[in-house]
Amino acid sequence: MQILTVRLEMVFEQVRMACKEPGAGRVIDVGSDHGYLAVRCLEEGLAGSVVCTEIHKEPAKRSEEALNEAGFADQSKVFVTDGLAGVLLKDKDIVVIAGMGGLNMIDIITRALNDNGSEVLSNVTFVLQPQKSNDLVRRYLAENGFVLEDETVCYDRDIFYNCLRAVYEGTGRTLSDEEACYGPLLLKKYSDGDKDVAAYFDHLDKIFEIRKRSNPVIKSALEERKRNECK
Ligand SMILES: C[S@@+](CC[C@H](N)C(=O)[O-])C[C@H]1O[C@@H](n2cnc3c(N)ncnc32)[C@H](O)[C@@H]1O
Repeated sequence: MQILTVRLEMVFEQVRMACKEPGAGRVIDVGSDHGYLAVRCLEEGLAGSVVCTEIHKEPAKRSEEALNEAGFADQSKVFVTDGLAGVLLKDKDIVVIAGMGGLNMIDIITRALNDNGSEVLSNVTFVLQPQKSNDLVRRYLAENGFVLEDETVCYDRDIFYNCLRAVYEGTGRTLSDEEACYGPLLLKKYSDGDKDVAAYFDHLDKIFEIRKRSNPVIKSALEERKRNECK
């Protein structure tokens, strides 16, 4: 079985949860790098087939080799492309975008919305693990009609990571600064006593205290959180 890092294991668990009919649909891994996640999805029978996309040739080659060596040549395709360019989405697809910056992610999803239309998008699940700009990703998703199904956190080699699972429903909504910076679902898990989320929030509180000096959104999020915690 393909071993994954704690971070990628968290991403994989979200793919598992997104998978309504194991073996029926595709997992599309955007920015697949070594191809480990795609291999694992096929090994565990979550996907009938996988598509890996890579903006660079070398990681695309790595992904292809990993899939071939694991015996999945017939169930996989690897493209050198930017995001989802040239990959038309289908019902039940699970699109994974992990390990890259939030702005890059937003750009990829925006182009996917334009290329595929909202009807197709409504049957696609997005599993997103941004390395930064979480607030912008959450805000983008909410304002552009995506609904969060779940958000999880993990601690891997001294770094906290989070992972979002979102589906397109079409009705946009606005997030408060607190919701954007901490995550609406994580805030709920925190108030339900989730210890992993509490550790993550502890970490966020510390870095936000420093960043609030130069970032008014973070300053407002911290103030809102303090007010809400006092209630
Ligand atoms: C840090 S790696 C993360 C790999 C893997 N997804 C993970 O989470 O471990 C990011 C990968 O995304 C690729 N990448 C960055 N921007 C991309 C884009 N717009 N389209 C496709 N691949 C991209 C990079 O070449 C790199 O291999």
